[in-house]
Amino acid sequence: MFNLILFGPPGSGKGTQSEKLIAKFGLRHLSTGDILRSEIRNGTALGLEAKSLMDQGQLVPDAVVIGMIRSALEHNPEARGFLFDGFPRTNAQADTLDALLAEKKTAINIVLALQVSKSELVKRLLNRGLTSGRTDDVNEAIIGSRIEEYERKTAAVADHYKKVNKVVYIPGEGSVEEIFRKLCDEIEEKLKSKK
Ligand code: AP5
Repeated sequence: MFNLILFGPPGSGKGTQSEKLIAKFGLRHLSTGDILRSEIRNGTALGLEAKSLMDQGQLVPDAVVIGMIRSALEHNPEARGFLFDGFPRTNAQADTLDALLAEKKTAINIVLALQVSKSELVKRLLNRGLTSGRTDDVNEAIIGSRIEEYERKTAAVADHYKKVNKVVYIPGEGSVEEIFRKLCDEIEEKLKSKK
């Protein structure tokens, strides 16, 4: 199996690049944000619990997202690998992910961390908010809270994987294609060293 975490702050391009990477490498895309938005659309109890936190730009409790990831891993026994997008976002989530993958006799192979300046993140998200209908993109205050949550709780997840030498930083500004090529280069390099 080949397992990759696409890491980075809100608006850094995780979702955009994930779509292209799963198509190229045949990985299963697991985006906790997408799963949560689908729960909200379906009006489930979990969606209701998550909605008010997401609308304020705050993280959903660890137990909720860990349950979602556990279930997704169980339901995809045939996957040749996973691309985790927006997960893990806390050290507790990272510890649990490591344990869940160890149960499957696998592990995270690489963490690709997109680096984008704060002003560019705000610009991208406000721009998407004009048409996306995403309630967490509507104004600068909510976008600011998301970035703050990232800085307070999520940035440290990179240190968790740095300790085991798995993090590669990728400049996340420039054209989508240019960034995609850099991500592909790192993945291909890693795949070669696995053989
Ligand atoms: P989530 O859905 O994960 O959102 P996010 O991390 O805030 O990221 P975004 O989807 O906004 O950005 P992205 O990095 O994917 O960039 P994208 O490609 O979309 O999480 C939403 C919420 O759910 C969280 O706030 C939290 O409440 C909850 N949640 C989710 N996971 C959780 C977890 N594990 N634990 C707890 N809570 C959790 O691009 C953004 C925009 O930029 C797009 O318009 C795109 O077209 C544009 N763009 C992309 N690349 C470029 C480029 N190179 N140049 C110019 N524009 C670009």
